[in-house]
Amino acid sequence: LESKNIEKPTTSPGAENVHKQPFIIGVAGGAASGKTTVCDMIIQQLHDQRVVLVNQDSFYHNLTEEELARVHEYNFDHPDAFDTEKLLDSIENLRHDRAVDIPNYDFKSYKSNAFPARRVNPSDVIILEGILIFHDPRVRELMNMKIFVDADADVRLARRIRRDTVDKGRDIGAVLDQYSKFVKPAFDDFILPTKKYADIIIPRGGDNHVAIDLIVQHIRTKLGQHDLCKIYPNLYVIQSTFQI
Ligand code: C5P
Repeated sequence: LESKNIEKPTTSPGAENVHKQPFIIGVAGGAASGKTTVCDMIIQQLHDQRVVLVNQDSFYHNLTEEELARVHEYNFDHPDAFDTEKLLDSIENLRHDRAVDIPNYDFKSYKSNAFPARRVNPSDVIILEGILIFHDPRVRELMNMKIFVDADADVRLARRIRRDTVDKGRDIGAVLDQYSKFVKPAFDDFILPTKKYADIIIPRGGDNHVAIDLIVQHIRTKLGQHDLCKIYPNLYVIQSTFQI
């Protein structure tokens, strides 16, 4: 057996030490649009990959005593409500193969340090999920794929009322006030304008199995290419012509 024309994968010096970069997926959309369901379904279908989910909610600023005393006047739907520097720092660490501690935000006490933080290890796939995850260009630029989950405003409001009254124990009057004062205006001013950055827009959120199947197929294809290019940055052709 003689091999002919076999061009070995040409790697730059030390390329064997080049670590694989994670494939980063951004999932944005209004509150209660079905983002979490979409992420859960993607994670479930990518069960053979190491996938981590990072929620933008984990990066809510802690409120001052003054803000806490007037919490109903605080706009949790404004980009400034999030500590984006800390989010960027965490992603940068994960990209460089370093584990990070991600806060577990408590919607009842409005604190990001009420519970122990979650240790997140570097992974093949990182899903960044949040209402305003496409807002900052530095975060957007880290993403290999951007998904916007679309749902009608009445569907989002109905889900939100159920979630906030049942899960968060909030008063329905306060939920409706917050919706008309902050949630709806912020959706129109900050969230909806980021839809244009999406590669894929999913109507009907988690109910859209066809869209999720297609997305997972695409991620698998991209993961294959992504891995190869990261391992062999100068790989052009592998000719495997064998002659007996
Ligand atoms: O999980 P989801 O993306 O739906 O969470 C975002 C929503 O959580 C925002 O619309 C914001 O108004 C709400 N929120 C809240 N109370 C907090 C923090 C966020 O109602 N303490």
